[in-house]
Amino acid sequence: MGKIVIAIDGQSGCGKSSTAKAVAKSLGYTYLDSGAMYRAVTYYYLQNPFDLGDAESVSRALENVDIEFRLNPEDGSQLTFLNGENVEAQIRQMEVSKSVSKVAAVKLIREAMVAQQRKLGAAKGVVMDGRDIGSVVFPDAALKVYMTADLETRAKRRLRELSADGGVYSLKEIQKNLAERDKLDSSREESPLVKMEDAVELDTSELKFEDQVNFVIDLARERI
Ligand code: C5P
Repeated sequence: MGKIVIAIDGQSGCGKSSTAKAVAKSLGYTYLDSGAMYRAVTYYYLQNPFDLGDAESVSRALENVDIEFRLNPEDGSQLTFLNGENVEAQIRQMEVSKSVSKVAAVKLIREAMVAQQRKLGAAKGVVMDGRDIGSVVFPDAALKVYMTADLETRAKRRLRELSADGGVYSLKEIQKNLAERDKLDSSREESPLVKMEDAVELDTSELKFEDQVNFVIDLARERI
């Protein structure tokens, strides 16, 4: 059976990652969270501030950023490592969410992340989620899905996730962050979030998780 690349793009908090993970598991594919890479650079930036507007200082910072994914031996989940340190929990914090879209808009940072994402996906058999996977990273992906959900539904889901991880946030704060990121991610000059013409749209506002996963798996099976 051939292996394909599945690109899942969409707005913040619409369930891309959890859907992509479940699809990858079911197909025996590798799941790759491109957002985790932008979050890891952002975490580095917050710890070691540099001038995002200055190419030299961005290049210098990027030389000191080494991002890897490793599998959690306990449950097989993906962990993000920055310079050898497990930063999976840190990169999900609101502090990182508040700055990530600003960092992800920087051309040199995107170029470095895209190069690594292409390497990671070169062998195919991957499900990658993000904002520019179907448009820039893998424009030839055999399956492109564009996920959406209404803002309130997304904020409620994200609140549940963050609360389960012990975070204390208000629905309003989360809703504001999602809306701000959507705005920045869709309006930026470099690789903005767009729905590609060849992407299948999936609105998850009214869907059960299982149904949205099966929807993608069925589309994938038609193309494998
Ligand atoms: O997917 P997640 O919400 O974790 O992504 C965090 C942020 O990283 C997004 O809001 C966006 O600014 C950036 N991102 C991006 N391109 C990607 C994935 C994420 O610009 N492919």
